[in-house]
Amino acid sequence: MPLWHWRKKEWDSVSTIFATELLLERLHAENIEEAIRLAEEIFPHDISHLESPGIEYRASLNPELYSSELATLGLDFQQHWVLQTGERAVALTGLQHKIGDLPHIVWLGWFCVAASERRRKLGSRLLRWTTEVARALGYREMRLWTTTLAEESQAQVLYERFGFRIFCEEVEFDGTRRLYRTCSL
Ligand SMILES: CC(C)(COP(=O)(O)OP(=O)(O)OC[C@H]1O[C@@H](n2cnc3c(N)ncnc32)[C@H](O)[C@@H]1OP(=O)(O)O)[C@@H](O)C(=O)NCCC(=O)NCCS
Repeated sequence: MPLWHWRKKEWDSVSTIFATELLLERLHAENIEEAIRLAEEIFPHDISHLESPGIEYRASLNPELYSSELATLGLDFQQHWVLQTGERAVALTGLQHKIGDLPHIVWLGWFCVAASERRRKLGSRLLRWTTEVARALGYREMRLWTTTLAEESQAQVLYERFGFRIFCEEVEFDGTRRLYRTCSL
């Protein structure tokens, strides 16, 4: 994977004061374990997959070490952020580009808000912020996928409100449906 690609599209801002006592920081060596803990708490079904926060977060900090996993995942760009209060992660967001996609397409990765912090507009603000960063990085279309699992139902309302429309559905082995959504930036 060409290193220039990772550098070219990086969002330079190191941290952003997102709200009182909430700091939005890039994923880094000190917050990665807390970020994985939150992601695995919210997406427990994905822990054992290759497409999991543990592998994708570690690979984003160390792409050379995880080059074969990244090739299998089809990812050639990732950047992730952790919304923190002190050392505690309360929300996550990320951008990913897939090797086979056109250059203007970016995927939203591991977007979530801790259960204790929901319905305070954090999700809306973080999604707005992420789309703005994607646009600033030159992307023109954002895609994401969710499932029809009950714990992801609130996200459907949020994504519809932001203009993400379903363009594809897949049935998984357990009967759950994967919903792929897209939105112009
Ligand atoms: C989806 C998620 C990020 C929303 O975070 P949030 O901080 O609660 O979002 P907001 O407070 O900005 O709420 C946005 C809207 O979503 C809808 N919504 C959120 N929680 C809801 C709930 N429990 N019941 C019904 N609607 C809900 C509402 O329409 C809400 O707007 P409103 O408060 O004006 O009615 C959060 O619920 C979450 O992390 N869910 C689990 C992970 C997930 O599904 N991620 C997406 C899949 S990749």
